[in-house]
Amino acid sequence: MSTSRYHDTYAAWKADPEGFWGEAARDIDWFRPHDRVFDATLGVYGRWFPGAETNTCHNCLDRHVNGGRADQTALIYDSPITRTRRSYTYSELLDHVQAMASVLADHGIGRGDRVILYMPMIPEAAMAMLACARLGAIHSVVFGGFAANELATRIDDATPKAIICASCGLEPGRSIAYKPLVDAAIDLSDHKPDRVMVIQRTQLGAALDRPGDLDLGAAMGQALAEGRTVPCTPVAATDPLYVLYTSGTTGQPKGVVRDTGGHMVALKWSMQNLYGINPGEVFWAASDVGWVVGHSYIVYGPLLHGCTTVVFEGKPVGTPDAGVFWRVISDHKVAALFTAPTAFRAIKKEDPSGRLIHDYDLSTFRTLFLAGERADPDTIRWAEDKLGVPVIDHWWQTETGWAIVGNPVGLGMLPVKHGSPTVAMPGYDVRVLDDAGHPLPAGTLGNIVVRLPLPPGCLPTLWNADQRFRSAYLDEFPGYYKTADAGVIDADGYLSIMARTDDIINVAGHRLSTGAMEEVLSGHPDVAECAVIGIADQLKGQLPCGFVVLKAGVSRSHAEIETELVKRVRDLIGPVAAFKIAITVDRLPKTRSGKILRGTMRQIADGLEYKMPATIDDPAILSEIEAALNAYGVRTRA
Ligand code: COA
Ligand code: AMP
Repeated sequence: MSTSRYHDTYAAWKADPEGFWGEAARDIDWFRPHDRVFDATLGVYGRWFPGAETNTCHNCLDRHVNGGRADQTALIYDSPITRTRRSYTYSELLDHVQAMASVLADHGIGRGDRVILYMPMIPEAAMAMLACARLGAIHSVVFGGFAANELATRIDDATPKAIICASCGLEPGRSIAYKPLVDAAIDLSDHKPDRVMVIQRTQLGAALDRPGDLDLGAAMGQALAEGRTVPCTPVAATDPLYVLYTSGTTGQPKGVVRDTGGHMVALKWSMQNLYGINPGEVFWAASDVGWVVGHSYIVYGPLLHGCTTVVFEGKPVGTPDAGVFWRVISDHKVAALFTAPTAFRAIKKEDPSGRLIHDYDLSTFRTLFLAGERADPDTIRWAEDKLGVPVIDHWWQTETGWAIVGNPVGLGMLPVKHGSPTVAMPGYDVRVLDDAGHPLPAGTLGNIVVRLPLPPGCLPTLWNADQRFRSAYLDEFPGYYKTADAGVIDADGYLSIMARTDDIINVAGHRLSTGAMEEVLSGHPDVAECAVIGIADQLKGQLPCGFVVLKAGVSRSHAEIETELVKRVRDLIGPVAAFKIAITVDRLPKTRSGKILRGTMRQIADGLEYKMPATIDDPAILSEIEAALNAYGVRTRA
């Protein structure tokens, strides 16, 4: 029998959801209490904690400084790529955030204004997020691996008053000048922000020669020297804290809105009950502030909980070696690490025997958490075996902001079943439905949905797009949120995630839209039509693979066009798309009604058994696709 409190806790939530979250809300400081825990009549499906006022920066910083943690380390910056280490106590972090907030306020940024952040993994990224929160401004962080064009789309959607960026990002062996990318994005966008505020980095400075450019680091330095303070602006619990864009089925990303009150309640609850972390301990999420994991578990979760967080600027391998994760855990006494399985696959490839682990003292390390993509049992077993700590897979999405399904270490771990991220967290009533919306029995694969309302922390809507929110997530299965993941729940209530039901692929833990890549390929003047699929990859989980049919009469070499297509995706979406495979074919397999058979193409590329689709127009085309993949070097059969 399990001694976990999970089942009782989940039952308590189910019996009285408002009582459950009302109790959890006591762990947050509110300037004004809520009128109701949940009001189903507000918003698209209801809102959490209406009537309440609070401020996220207050709960992350001021509260701890006033409550006895002023001298505790809040944030450790560890950058093997620049060989730099720096740390800030809660009191120092508060000073820096107030300095940055005062500069933002001087330039007219206040409650409800949007600010886009295009930042590498430096402390100023977290400071900028917290400074916006302090002022009631809404930040929108854009991952540095996205190109100017993607940034421009987000500028037009979020209409920010300012952009905060660093002069450069650093990847192994190259610096990426960020400011010219930001300038290019502003030139492309219809909306023009008033200011571009730049943190100059010594590795590669930026020319600040356009109207509105500002040296943010210098202005912050002056504000710090003057000891400037800025009070926390009270905002409604239902006000947005941030908008984070994530891939949708088209080139137009979805602006996931995160509210203020519910977000804090959910993250604080998760730190203790899911991650099993105590205030004062060191929690390290080796992700990037550009992703939801970075928002929730580099910045907000650990700070809300009074932990020490680690901002790591490096890679799991190559900076300088596959031992860097163990070095960071040992140097900073990390209690829990959260990363994507792909990072472990990279480490395992470089150091299969785990030899480097023995060079470090990992005695403080208790738990490894994995999310962002499917955790394959081989990788989990390797990590369990080499590290000797529990390895916890958990499943969630940008939209939810925290785990839907996990193994609640803080409540007492449940037995691990490899391949399953375990059970639904309180707040989530997870079901598996067939395409017509009927419940499926245990063990049957179907659409994973969550019964409405979603718990605190999940998106209330999409930025300025209630209707898109409804049509993308709520309309297909009335009364439920569609996760767009397919999976099964077993007789013990354990969920397994099998695949996406849309055209999203997962490349090295990064969520990407094949639809967006198809739009880019179709824009090439020689391309008549195309299809992008995700094919299995041992390191990155999936890799995008593009098939193109050229327009009649195009006589240029295929290789030349394919190189242009690879460059085009890199230039228009960004290096993060990892789009390196473009293959020219004569025709694409389609149904008689003209739908491209992407699923069958993927099964062929992955060497899986496939059934000839009954509606296929011309079965011979499938052999042509297989031959093209083989000619490219993709092995389609064992
Ligand atoms: N700015 C600019 N470029 C970036 C970037 C950034 N912030 N992040 C990545 N890129 C570039 C990389 O340099 C690479 O460029 P290249 O094609 O010139 O080599 C490209 O984008 C693809 O990056 P990535 O998929 O990360 O591959 P990689 O080969 O650099 O590293 C891993 C592989 C597995 C080590 C790496 O993906 C990793 O650490 N993954 C962890 C995943 C993760 O943190 N996910 C977050 C969700 S939890
Ligand atoms: P993102 O919004 O970038 O966090 O990506 C969310 C998607 O990543 C999910 O919808 C899943 O498809 C996938 N994903 C995240 N975590 C897991 C996991 N633990 N197991 C399987 N897939 C996952």
